[in-house]
Amino acid sequence: MASPEGRSSDVGILIVGATGFVGRALTERLVGEGHRVRALVRAVGRVPREPPAGAEWVVGDLLEPATLTPALRGIQTVYYLAHAMGSSDRTGSFAVRDRTAATNLVRAAGEAGVERIVYVGGLGDEAPGRSPHLESRREVARILASGRPRLTTFRAAIVVGAGGASFEMLVQLVERLPAMLCPRWIRTRCQPIAVGDLVTYLVRSLAEPQTIGRSFDVGGPDVLPYYDLLNRVGDRLGRRSRLVILPWLTPGLSAHWVGFITDVPANVARFLVEGMATEVVCHENEIRRWIPLRLLSFDEALDRALTHRPLRPLGLRQALARGFGTKPLHVATVDLTRLR
Ligand SMILES: NC(=O)c1ccc[n+]([C@@H]2O[C@H](COP(=O)([O-])OP(=O)(O)OC[C@H]3O[C@@H](n4cnc5c(N)ncnc54)[C@H](OP(=O)(O)O)[C@@H]3O)[C@@H](O)[C@H]2O)c1
Repeated sequence: MASPEGRSSDVGILIVGATGFVGRALTERLVGEGHRVRALVRAVGRVPREPPAGAEWVVGDLLEPATLTPALRGIQTVYYLAHAMGSSDRTGSFAVRDRTAATNLVRAAGEAGVERIVYVGGLGDEAPGRSPHLESRREVARILASGRPRLTTFRAAIVVGAGGASFEMLVQLVERLPAMLCPRWIRTRCQPIAVGDLVTYLVRSLAEPQTIGRSFDVGGPDVLPYYDLLNRVGDRLGRRSRLVILPWLTPGLSAHWVGFITDVPANVARFLVEGMATEVVCHENEIRRWIPLRLLSFDEALDRALTHRPLRPLGLRQALARGFGTKPLHVATVDLTRLR
């Protein structure tokens, strides 16, 4: 029987994507709170570190349906935190892989008698077709909702925490560049959420029946344009970058230099940059009614993330790109769209 805090000793939980950014944080929290947790990992050799005490590991792959049956045995709740963004091989594009993965999981979960699936998708519905990544996240939600288990979806914008792909992209750009050429979408608004707050929603939804079978927009208290996120990161690092907005800069071109300067691969950067064209802001705050908590501001989340983030040495190309960037720059954004 679950307590109001979401503790439950008799819940069989499977985390799919436990080696990822959100999955790692969720696994640690659940295990720390005394839940029984099983994690699906693609290959033991790729597990980055020992699992937290109490977590059981099962080798499996969403694209290999036969591996899902044993992984789902005795499971009541599946956290679905996997995605294949950036990977394309003989099995198709990332969207095809994500479609296949979700279809395999929902079918196997139905056969195994799983009661609930809890999924983290993306905010932003306003521009269908403009972002293949966001469209794919929506498609996965539809597939997961089509099966026998009841689905809970949390839709988030940037999740702020050390190791998150979008967050790393922002921080590394500021760390490494004294000036940036940005597409006009740098003015798009977004509503980031701290990874700890997202994890709290995920955990507490276990014990809140009002979250079953529903979708919730989740975001922190701040709605900020992307250039403001970059400036705030710069303030924290003592190194603001000069932002030059070029209206004709395409996502493909932006992604190439993001991939060149940061550790984020160019194919992942492309989807993240394309996603920036779409406003990712909560349109409802219903979750706050059922799971009230004090959400961290972006600056608070940033402080925590930067504290937990190891400093990375610059490669030669970043060092060259940074040039004189070791000196703090306090320069306003230059918007070339206004000069036309
Ligand atoms: N990070 C953000 O800022 C953010 C923002 C909004 C929404 N979200 C959503 O939150 C969820 C988690 O994102 P994340 O940032 O934690 O992702 P992530 O760090 O990229 O992790 C993805 C996970 O999916 C696993 N995976 C991929 N293909 C798989 C397969 N075929 N079988 C089994 N596992 C597979 C990966 O395993 P391997 O380790 O084996 O590759 C990894 O554990 C996603 O649905 C994402 O859309 C994230």
